Amino acid sequence: MDMPKERRAWWKEAVIYQIYPRSFADSNGDGIGDLNGITEHLPYLEKLGVDVLWLSPVYQSPNDDNGYDISDYRAIMKEFGTMEDFDRMLAEAHRHHLKIVMDLVVNHTSDEHQWFVESRASKDNPYRDYYIWKDAKDGREPTNWGACFGGSAWEYDKTTDMYYLHCFSKKQPDLNWENPKVRDEVFDMMTWWCEKGIDGFRMDVISMISKDQAYPDGPVSDGLYGSFGPFVCNGPRVHEFLQEMNTRVLSHYDLLTVGETAGVTVEEAKKYANSNGTELNMVFQFEHVELVPGKIGKWTDEKPQLVNLRPVLNRWQTELEGKAWNSLFWDNHDQPRVVSRFGNDSEEYRVRSAKMLATCLHMMKGTPYIYQGEELGMTNVYFDKLEDYRDIESIHSYEQYVNSGLVSSEDMMRYLKEISRDNARTPMQWTSGKNAGFSDGTPWIRVNPNYTAINAEAALADPDSTFYYYQKLIALRHTRPIIVYGVFHGLLEDSASIYAYERTLDGETLTVACNFTDQEQECTLFDGIEGEELISNYPTHLVGKLQPYEARVLLHK
Ligand code: NOJ
Repeated sequence: MDMPKERRAWWKEAVIYQIYPRSFADSNGDGIGDLNGITEHLPYLEKLGVDVLWLSPVYQSPNDDNGYDISDYRAIMKEFGTMEDFDRMLAEAHRHHLKIVMDLVVNHTSDEHQWFVESRASKDNPYRDYYIWKDAKDGREPTNWGACFGGSAWEYDKTTDMYYLHCFSKKQPDLNWENPKVRDEVFDMMTWWCEKGIDGFRMDVISMISKDQAYPDGPVSDGLYGSFGPFVCNGPRVHEFLQEMNTRVLSHYDLLTVGETAGVTVEEAKKYANSNGTELNMVFQFEHVELVPGKIGKWTDEKPQLVNLRPVLNRWQTELEGKAWNSLFWDNHDQPRVVSRFGNDSEEYRVRSAKMLATCLHMMKGTPYIYQGEELGMTNVYFDKLEDYRDIESIHSYEQYVNSGLVSSEDMMRYLKEISRDNARTPMQWTSGKNAGFSDGTPWIRVNPNYTAINAEAALADPDSTFYYYQKLIALRHTRPIIVYGVFHGLLEDSASIYAYERTLDGETLTVACNFTDQEQECTLFDGIEGEELISNYPTHLVGKLQPYEARVLLHK
């Protein structure tokens, strides 16, 4: 096999599977997924062939934001089990050749974390400067910033007559990274987990840890609050802090590190994920999942179009080439289901379009991430009632925008059906039995009613299922260096219906074409070319055409 000239790394060759533990598998019947549920399903994940499991947060938390509000970084959330369960899961995962990546949430803690309990107690408490406290300005909040989950980003605290900053909910106060003691605490905690033998970190909103110390007002776009983005995302000291983290912790272990970098640009990504390895391995950028500007905040029901998607995907592919490493994802616990957003979740085209989208992503350059259930072609849940939603962002946004008269209730319910994070958070569909085989009790959030048809048991029994298609894509990546290391070139760049590209390495070319529509489309890319078909979602092809949602991958000279 030809070997690439680019520096090889296991995390470049790996496929990652994201688990949202609350919704994955409930082993004790309390309606909430748990660590023993994960352990029980490791053989399923090994069979799929992924290399790494990223677990959304499993630490102790009051669950204002489902674990992204941590009250003790060295304890396990009681609904999820115990530290013994964690240690067993980690050992078993390793036995099944699966690495474990932890979610590192250190832009903020829970307001129930001991540091914050101390911090808010008095102005001279030793923990006071662990968080960001400001006096009122002209009798009101220190800046006009809105929080991600609605309302002001500042909460007044009467104990000391000051405000604290929370970019997310008021139960998620932001840590003050300017304080060296905060950095010491975070780095010690990370080392503690590394010593346990974990294999990496996904770093929650890590681009937000350094704030512009001037704290200016932000531009107002939704008519209610100013944006903190320009003063918080990719802030003045963020690269310095990450280099310090790298020197003090990351460089001592063989880890996979991926930064969730809200507001990241290509230029910034080249710094975060630089190939000298001084910061992180790779980052999540969000341009391709934020293509349609929301009518209010992120909320919209417009579907993204290929003509807008292509330039974004191509730019990240070509501009990071040789300089930094991409991560590849369509969805996660914060996004709607990929087949519902970019594909077609009707009975006729669900499987076909899910496979096409998988092909499109997995043949690109970068490390692919699969979100739980994506390998089954799970769809949006389309809840009709607000009461069915559990997500703090969905509920607060509904209240904020409908109550202020910015949008009607009907419109907002439609936007939630398209975009709400709960679309990704309904329970994993294991079987056609009670509660989709997720739990014997009452699930914390309703199961998608389509579980009787869409579930792992059915997928495993069907050789033509999306599950086996993903399995094949993963196996191809593991055996064909061109998929990992080949250089990307965009093709058919004017097409409104076909996304196509090639990858080249050592005299070989991989040609990939994906029809994003439910109609046949002209495509002459494969005409007259002899080669090896690596994968396709159709058994036979038409000359000069791609069938609805067809994907083809040809390896040739
Ligand atoms: C990003 C996480 O992915 C999301 O789920 C969470 O609500 C925010 N960060 C706050 O931690």
